[in-house]
Amino acid sequence: MAIPNILIIGAGAVGAFSAAVMARRQLGTIYLYDVVEDLSIGRAMDINQASPYLSTDTRVIGCNSLDEVPAADVVVITAGRARHSGMTRLDLLRQNLAVMEDLGTTIMSTLPQAQVLVVTNPVDVLTWFMKNTWPKMNVFGLGCSLDALRFCYFIAEAFGGSVDSARGMVIGTHNEDMIPLVNHATVGGVPVRRILGQEAIEEIVRRTRSAGTTITQRLKSHSGYYAAAHVITQIVESIVFNRLGIFPLSVGCRGHYGYDGICLALPTVVGRQGPERILEIDLDETERRALDGCALSMQEAIGSIQ
Ligand code: 2OP
Repeated sequence: MAIPNILIIGAGAVGAFSAAVMARRQLGTIYLYDVVEDLSIGRAMDINQASPYLSTDTRVIGCNSLDEVPAADVVVITAGRARHSGMTRLDLLRQNLAVMEDLGTTIMSTLPQAQVLVVTNPVDVLTWFMKNTWPKMNVFGLGCSLDALRFCYFIAEAFGGSVDSARGMVIGTHNEDMIPLVNHATVGGVPVRRILGQEAIEEIVRRTRSAGTTITQRLKSHSGYYAAAHVITQIVESIVFNRLGIFPLSVGCRGHYGYDGICLALPTVVGRQGPERILEIDLDETERRALDGCALSMQEAIGSIQ
């Protein structure tokens, strides 16, 4: 890619903050689109006016129509209804399926080569919908990437050390069934099970699973966006700079971990070609059963929309 074009669809809090963080990281030319007239244009003005302080010449270009966007290398879909207090991610399914249907048609006719990152919830089901409807689309979902970021933060907090030394992976589905892989989590390379007691570990797992809901309960009319914007940027950065970072993206299973025909959040190497490889991590019996549970609930969600 020369200077990549990145299209963010949806200029709500997640989309707009992602544009701001990407501009700060100088990832490319960032196009921000929203169906609400002028919303993305106002957001872009606001973000660009901060650029002298940030010393960035990367611009965010607000668009009222997708026709204004030249060929995009990466598309990030944040459009759709956000979760309100008391709503589960599955409550959003029906409303956001309609949004995906429209966007998928447009993307396949105008940007068929783009790497498409779905952020809209319920992310694993919507990613599956896109891949199933348009098998040629280079589509993958945010999956448990935000949850993995949160997991690392909670580990560092419990340990009382820098976040730089905490490493952790979360797989499964981006909902309360997600599986923080405690056996593989480390602080400074040392397994957390050697450093933290069982009670502290259970609390980390509980906090990771409920983090999104806990934030939404406080914010009431919308969900968290700040951490999401950063992890989205990190993934796009891995694509644009071919960094081959590893994120638990929502990807189509073709025999991976023994599943087929569903999307699950699994550790995935992501580079210029999007998801390049899914890593197989050893799971113990409890983790395996939990992943089977995620696969089953995915199958049920898929069944409900077929
Ligand atoms: C979160 O976990 C809303 O799914 C989003 O914060």
